[in-house]
Amino acid sequence: MNERPANTPIEKCESKFTVGQFRPRRLRGGQIIRKMVQENVVRLEDLVMPFFVCPGEKVQQEIPSMPGNYRFSIDILLEQVRMVGDLGIPAVLLFGIPEEKDYVGSSGYDIDGIIPRAIRALKDAYVEPLLIADVCLCEYTNHGHCGILTSDDLEDGDSVDNDKTIEILAQEAVVYAAAGADIIAPSDMMDGRIRRIRIELDECGYSDIPIMSYAAKYASAFYGPFRDAADSAPERGDRRSYQMDPPNSREAMREIELDVSEGADIVMVKPALAYLDVLRDARQRFDVPLAAYNVSGEYAMIKAAAANGWVDEIQVRDEILVSIKRAGADLIITYFAVDVARTIR
Ligand code: PBG
Repeated sequence: MNERPANTPIEKCESKFTVGQFRPRRLRGGQIIRKMVQENVVRLEDLVMPFFVCPGEKVQQEIPSMPGNYRFSIDILLEQVRMVGDLGIPAVLLFGIPEEKDYVGSSGYDIDGIIPRAIRALKDAYVEPLLIADVCLCEYTNHGHCGILTSDDLEDGDSVDNDKTIEILAQEAVVYAAAGADIIAPSDMMDGRIRRIRIELDECGYSDIPIMSYAAKYASAFYGPFRDAADSAPERGDRRSYQMDPPNSREAMREIELDVSEGADIVMVKPALAYLDVLRDARQRFDVPLAAYNVSGEYAMIKAAAANGWVDEIQVRDEILVSIKRAGADLIITYFAVDVARTIR
């Protein structure tokens, strides 16, 4: 059709491209028109910035596998959350590193524990961003599992007692709500915890506090750097008896459906990058707001490759974040939130 015989010079080549044909390149000719036809966008309002809060004063300890992210003591956290608010990021997600860990994770539901103290300090200072409190036990138990154990035999983590655990999680949720948390985010993956937490919150007068549920949370190796940061790797066994098996996606729809029926206001898929198909399926099936967690390992991979000069950090970061929006997420929890806010155009 439009082929040039091998011996024809290029300038003698006549276009046989037919009149009236659609040429996609017409809409890519310049920055302005590209922006005009851009289908998806990552807005500042979509982002949530996670923080690790630790005991002490003036502590700012970089997390080696997450360069640019730190464990902050409450005083420094306060400055950080103010800065996040000034940048226009609407919410932060708080993880606690307690002074002491024990078998049942009691520092997690202590009213004077690290998270309630941090929340009270932030609220006393009238910070702008909403405070989302992660509700789980793995940061607070000395064995690193997300719940109460029935035995010490932890070959595969199957001795986490579901029903005892959700009672504790409900207490933890109320303690965080009482401290002033704006949103409760259970990340434990026990069955029935959304209903249990919803009832407890309602009965204690917190019926206006939304639940953002980690609904489809996979047993992922991408959480490695987070577990360094929170010192929460399971001592023995793994989380496969409560977190989801990576090959499954239909099961994720059942998990989300359950959480919605139990009262989740926002549902989450986690991790994001290796689970974009799950995000897409969830977007098509459910009308509730959908969050994606761009987890620690996803952050670490980009930082490591960029530090080696192997990829362009900002371009790769933005390409991945917009892919999460394209897949259907409304909200993105990402350790890049502050960086993005500083470089957004
Ligand atoms: C607690 C929790 C984890 C993450 C968020 N909440 C760790 C885990 O389940 O092991 C991981 C977040 C990340 O990797 O950035 N259950």
